[in-house]
Amino acid sequence: MAAVHKIVVLDPLAQEGLDLLAATPGIEYEVRTGLKGPDLHATLAEFDGAILRSGVKITADALEGNRRLKAIVRAGVGTDNIDRTAATRLGIVVMNTPTGNTLSTAEHAIAMMMALSRNIAPAYQSLIEGRWDRSKYMGTQLADKTLGIVGLGRIGQAVARIAKALQLRLIGYDPFLAQDRAEELGVELVANVRDMLPRVDYLSVHTPLTNETRDLIGEPELDILKPGVRLVNCARGGIYNEAALAKGLASGRIAGVALDVYAEEPCKTSPLFGMPGVVCTPHLGASTEEAQTQVAVEGAQLLIDFFTTGAIRHAINMAAIDPKTLAGLKGYLNLAHRLGLLMAQWAKSGVQNCSLRYRGEVAAKETQLLTSAFAAGLLEAACEDVNIVNAEVLLRERGIELKSERTTDVGAFSSSMSAQVSADGRTYAAAGTLFGNVMPRLVKLGGHRLETYLDGTLLLFEHRDVPGIIGAIGTICGRHNVNIAQMSVGRATDKPGGEAVGALNLDSQPPDEALEEIRAHRAIKTVTIIKLPPAGKLPDWLGG
Ligand code: NAD
Ligand code: MLT
Repeated sequence: MAAVHKIVVLDPLAQEGLDLLAATPGIEYEVRTGLKGPDLHATLAEFDGAILRSGVKITADALEGNRRLKAIVRAGVGTDNIDRTAATRLGIVVMNTPTGNTLSTAEHAIAMMMALSRNIAPAYQSLIEGRWDRSKYMGTQLADKTLGIVGLGRIGQAVARIAKALQLRLIGYDPFLAQDRAEELGVELVANVRDMLPRVDYLSVHTPLTNETRDLIGEPELDILKPGVRLVNCARGGIYNEAALAKGLASGRIAGVALDVYAEEPCKTSPLFGMPGVVCTPHLGASTEEAQTQVAVEGAQLLIDFFTTGAIRHAINMAAIDPKTLAGLKGYLNLAHRLGLLMAQWAKSGVQNCSLRYRGEVAAKETQLLTSAFAAGLLEAACEDVNIVNAEVLLRERGIELKSERTTDVGAFSSSMSAQVSADGRTYAAAGTLFGNVMPRLVKLGGHRLETYLDGTLLLFEHRDVPGIIGAIGTICGRHNVNIAQMSVGRATDKPGGEAVGALNLDSQPPDEALEEIRAHRAIKTVTIIKLPPAGKLPDWLGG
């Protein structure tokens, strides 16, 4: 008798998804919702697959010692409730359904803007309390107002399209959106979020919660927001600082706040609840019949395909590469990914196009996979579930061109990979190679040769090649107790006085004051901190 694969459904799921599981021979399912702690741990050990929304947290503890579970499917986008490193370590594939709820969430953000503008919630409340307050609830029109959109991925772009039809003026910020794509959407791109804050009547965020987006609107931003602004968050709690929002509302700087998501969920009390100008919903962005049917059916199908045919789609922690190819390319995939991480942090934002050049022996390998690995590194900090499988598609969706070429001519190294990224009117260039087949090294930066480990904390500096630079930086690092593990400089010509670059491998992140002191040196033009994984650490999708 063929083996039966047991699936546990950990959150309420649309019936259509359950029906699909029930109709598939060889698949059995059970619904067990509201689990945590030891109950969740014990349940996960009894099943081959699991499907959930955002109501359950699959932590490392919940997976500890699990020898049975093979696949976890998130019926939705964000996988921040699943410890994917723990899952990867146990060989569990984590998949999601990235597009099923895009439109519903975009519509919810627009509904929130409208609810704020027309006082829908308080007006109805006053009506059921027996009042007929026509003058109290004077609203504002959306047409001809300015909407700022932070994050122009799937949902942000859908919001832009609807908002355009409502005759809003659109300003946007996303570190990865080509100018042409922004023009198609009718969005004026700005160089950073701060630049848009004094200009927008409405602000809607559509990014993951990252170190960069946490507290995007906090107390320091209150003074620069346009007075009377209305703020919407249907992305992730924590992007707006809830205490700062309460302060801004109380002072009158902010006219309205609409939240669907909270720093802590479920959120049953908040200083914001009940304040005038606030509309809140309990994480309902994706809660439409259509979106839930779509994510449930897509999610169930992912599990069915995985258990009946072995097919893996939308995996966020594993690459669909056969083990032999993987073994031959692992070192280069790691190098390509690290170069992508470096370029994203060096160029920072406004990325328009990228090109890669493979030279020497590596040019004869499957460079398409290396190009995808570079794209995954480039987008890793910006997009939640990027990996070698989806990275190039994500770049294309943002209108960013990624070209590659290869030449088997051997240069200074038997193999090398160079990357160029155009961003904010400048071209950033770097090249890397592998030492001993496994150790990634940076061998060119901005056209200058050097040699640096591609791991840990790097401090890159562009400078004029005059005496005393290395001593000055060394002294500043020493004063701030930052140990320099390795140092390398490269200059454009053999003569001193010209353009030069330097890279330091540091044992810890220098404090901001140290960076300011380095920046203040008269011959130093730019200073950038780059954070890379420790030596030997591979990305999840590469089995790290
Ligand atoms: P996406 O990956 O398609 O888009 C995210 C975009 O944010 C990317 O284009 C990325 O470049 C951009 N970004 C990252 N960091 C940024 C920064 N510092 N500044 C500006 N832009 C930045 O994701 P998506 O599918 O559009 O989802 C967006 C968010 O909405 C996610 O956090 C997701 O979890 C959340 N979401 C919420 C609900 C809900 O029910 N409320 C439903 C679906 C998705
Ligand atoms: C998501 O990430 O898809 C959303 O938060 C919606 C959800 O699943 O509740």
